[in-house]
Amino acid sequence: MSEIHKFSQRMDHIPFSGIRTIFEECSRLEAAGTDVIHLEIGRPDFDTPSPIKDAATTAIDQGHVHYTSNYGIDSLREKIAHKFEKDNGVEYNPHGEIITTCGATEAILISVLTLVGPGDEVLIPDPSWTYAPIIRLAGGIPVRYELDAENGFEPSLESIVDVATDRTSVLILNSPHNPTGGVVSDELVTDLATVATENDWYIISDEIYEKIIYDGCTHHSLAAEPKLYDRTVTVNGVSKAYSMTGWRLGYIGAPEPIVDGIIRARQYTTTCAPSIAQHAAVEAIGSSLHEPIQKAFAARRDLVMDRMDEIPGMDCPDPNGAFYAFPTLPHGYTDDTEFVFELLREAGVALVPGSVFGPAGNGRVRIAYSNSEARITEAFNRLTEWI
Ligand SMILES: Cc1ncc(COP(=O)(O)O)c(C=O)c1O
Repeated sequence: MSEIHKFSQRMDHIPFSGIRTIFEECSRLEAAGTDVIHLEIGRPDFDTPSPIKDAATTAIDQGHVHYTSNYGIDSLREKIAHKFEKDNGVEYNPHGEIITTCGATEAILISVLTLVGPGDEVLIPDPSWTYAPIIRLAGGIPVRYELDAENGFEPSLESIVDVATDRTSVLILNSPHNPTGGVVSDELVTDLATVATENDWYIISDEIYEKIIYDGCTHHSLAAEPKLYDRTVTVNGVSKAYSMTGWRLGYIGAPEPIVDGIIRARQYTTTCAPSIAQHAAVEAIGSSLHEPIQKAFAARRDLVMDRMDEIPGMDCPDPNGAFYAFPTLPHGYTDDTEFVFELLREAGVALVPGSVFGPAGNGRVRIAYSNSEARITEAFNRLTEWI
């Protein structure tokens, strides 16, 4: 390899994304003429609601095409602060306690860069979204606490405490959860308040799927627990609830002393969130434009769970939120990666191997119901026939 391709040592722990490997295989098959049904993509398939798109067009016409404040535009920060108060019972000052970001991804990155030093341990769920490489980029060490299917994939206090050490500096929680659809209960939040305070942990609470929740479950923001408020960074965004993944708009709410650090990390990363997306998000946040999307996901979830009942071995607790099911493999299969690639190549149905999300995902697959009911039905027809 030539000198020019020598990467920093930091990259030794940064793998090529496992989900991207599936995307690449899908593209190859589609280029060769295969009709692939996409149940692997972690993004809603709906168009962004038109009032939000109209707000973006108006922003362009009015010339809002420049850098904004590092924190974000005032009108959006005020909307976000109001939303936090109304929906989550959490008070953040729009001037100094809220930052708009390039997706929840950047929100998590700059929070981790601010709170995690070299060698610090960060507790993350197993399975989980891609927190581990972000922590590695900051020089930290991801340590996994296991989510148990028997417990509806809700984290237990014991599983968290068991893997904590005196080097633990941050606990990451994600509810509703990707990839399992699990939702954190009130009791856990109360228990965590004591443990996090005693051990002086920061908490990053990833609430990006807040609005996609089912069966009368309610979302609990960790920062609403008085003992946790001072040590919690709440991460959210518009990607999932309003089908705006391409707009790249997320946000952070945290007490001023924490935001004072995070804003400095942000000044030297992306400067500000896209100005047009910020103007569009003013229309989204606090609106009911997510409701048809939430309802469609609820119907698809029921369809997926019904169809899985027909497949011996494919089993998981009912997801209470997000738009994923995380079942075990059908009888006769043990290797999730092999299963996914064979199914994709032979039947044209794309899923994600569970092991991509951590060791606890071995022997499972993630089914994203981010596709129409007709395509989900066709995918299950193909899957049953293929098995
Ligand atoms: C749990 C979780 N957190 C954060 C993100 C990032 O979302 P965004 O599009 O806002 O960057 C995702 C995206 O899939 C996710 O699943």
